[in-house]
Amino acid sequence: MNVDKGYVDAPIDSSLDLKEEIVKLKKEKNAVILAHYYQKGEIQDLADYIGDSLALAQIAARIEAPIIVLCGVGFMGETAKILCPDKKVLIPDMNAGCSLADSCQAQDFEKFIKENPGHTVISYVNTSAGVKALTDVLVTSTNARQIVESFPADEKIIFGPDRNLGGYINSVTGRNMKLWNGACHVHEQFSVEKIVELKQQFPGAKVLVHPECKDVVVKLADKVGSTAALLNYAVNSDEQVFIVATESGIIHEMTKRCPEKTFIAAPPTGSSCGCNDCSYMKLNTLEKLYNCLKYEMPEVSVDQEVAQKALIPIRRMLDISEKLGL
Ligand code: 13P
Ligand code: SF4
Repeated sequence: MNVDKGYVDAPIDSSLDLKEEIVKLKKEKNAVILAHYYQKGEIQDLADYIGDSLALAQIAARIEAPIIVLCGVGFMGETAKILCPDKKVLIPDMNAGCSLADSCQAQDFEKFIKENPGHTVISYVNTSAGVKALTDVLVTSTNARQIVESFPADEKIIFGPDRNLGGYINSVTGRNMKLWNGACHVHEQFSVEKIVELKQQFPGAKVLVHPECKDVVVKLADKVGSTAALLNYAVNSDEQVFIVATESGIIHEMTKRCPEKTFIAAPPTGSSCGCNDCSYMKLNTLEKLYNCLKYEMPEVSVDQEVAQKALIPIRRMLDISEKLGL
């Protein structure tokens, strides 16, 4: 079986109930499925664990099963592999990349670091293993603020690759971190005008915004946070209507946890679809997940030397998060 296309393209018997088969294969092989909140709902429903980027890394670090199927994007698979080098880490479709991670190539980031000597390097987890290897400590949107604040106020810091998250952290901490000029194509899209229109249409609706969004969108937020933080806010709020400015996959779990509440996907600029999907996240399908489990392919691999260097800032992030109770 080959994975030339980035996934196993083997024919599947159309009489099979794929959900049942995936559950069977998972048990048979003692595999654990981890899924990010941006995955298709049917994949989230089959997962043993769903979570934000921090939770997925924390879970991967303590899993005992020999096979991890990471239903998410490439950098999440790499993080799991770096944390669990002896396990088989699979991704249903290796083409699931990340525009934000792609906006920061390791050789360019290395140059940026050299141009700014004497800086501590803090990187968002949405980066390649090569960029992680150049980093002092990693962060996710759950712990970025606290990790930045764990450094002295006058610490000189480089933050990469997300200029929006970095700018947001600068604004709430009063820091002046030097920002890499990267962004996520999904989170950059949200339309201020359309969110304002929705607020007029649904007075009282709470606006939930991921910090990868532009500052003009963040300014409209009632809550800014990671996918898990936005989900928790919605679960614990007395409000009934929420405008959700992050990838629309999170609405699946929000609706499951709060079936009586209304969640409206914040619309992107210049589009009539009313949703905001990450084309990379949505590359993983039930069919690819089934074949991935069946053939145990495609497998994530990370160069050993790079992985050893990248493990240091990942571990540092997990240790600080544990101390902070995150
Ligand atoms: P979190 O789930 O950690 O908030 O990350 C969002 C994201 O863009 C992942 O790619
Ligand atoms: Fe990357 Fe954006 Fe997709 Fe998240 S939503 S995986 S940051 S491209």
